[in-house]
Amino acid sequence: MVIDGCNFLGSAQHNTSCSSLPNRETIATYKELAVKLNPQDLEAVAGRTLEHYDRHAADFWQGTRDHDVSQNIEALLQRLEGEPPFTILDFGCGPGRDLKAFAELGHVVVGLEGAARLAGMARAYSGCEVWRQDFLRLDLPSGRFDGVFANAALFHVPGQELPRVLLELRATLKPRGVLFSSNPRGHNEEGWTQGRYGAYHDLATWRRYLSAAGFVELAHYYRPTGLPRERQPWLASVWRRAGQ
Ligand SMILES: C[S@@+](CC[C@H](N)C(=O)[O-])C[C@H]1O[C@@H](n2cnc3c(N)ncnc32)[C@H](O)[C@@H]1O
Repeated sequence: MVIDGCNFLGSAQHNTSCSSLPNRETIATYKELAVKLNPQDLEAVAGRTLEHYDRHAADFWQGTRDHDVSQNIEALLQRLEGEPPFTILDFGCGPGRDLKAFAELGHVVVGLEGAARLAGMARAYSGCEVWRQDFLRLDLPSGRFDGVFANAALFHVPGQELPRVLLELRATLKPRGVLFSSNPRGHNEEGWTQGRYGAYHDLATWRRYLSAAGFVELAHYYRPTGLPRERQPWLASVWRRAGQ
């Protein structure tokens, strides 16, 4: 089974970084990461990861266009307050599958994507506005969105930068706006796997990051549904912006 926009390189990698917990041999735990990533490292984290996505753009689209993430879309929409249509930011929208889904439901959705080819594909496929931005150098309007949908995206943000990025996402939400996030989970390892930088948090660590950034948990669940926990590599969670 393929889900959530990750297992696009085929069955050989099905059991490594995406469809099961990440390969521990290739990445370090936070404890082992004694060295802080410097500005050049961070440029490489974003640059090399985005190059990887751009190089594999066509395969990524073929491998993920039919993934069913309606559970995640619904998890966000059902927590939004007020009357639709809602204004939604699809953070790390990739080639635009979910942009189109939100637009077809009548919502006003904007994509954000750092990989040039994917951003172009997303515009063409969905007809939506797509901002080409790096997660690590965001420039977001304040108080603009009812919801932020971050499907298989925030795990590309190194742990040391995550508090800042989450504060930026909080600030782009309206008061009581909602952040949805789904990430491949792990035991708090981070580093390079198969050409992409990823951080694989467990629920306790993820909760600490989100609470510290001013979010209140509304729900969490593991995917795919109906399987034993060890075969549920994805941790999905829904958070409300606290305060004004
Ligand atoms: C696993 S894909 C998920 C795509 C889409 N949300 C989905 O569910 O199919 C992660 C996305 O994040 C984007 N991304 C990764 N690092 C990024 C960065 N530093 N800045 C902007 N986009 C980034 C990738 O280009 C890719 O489109």
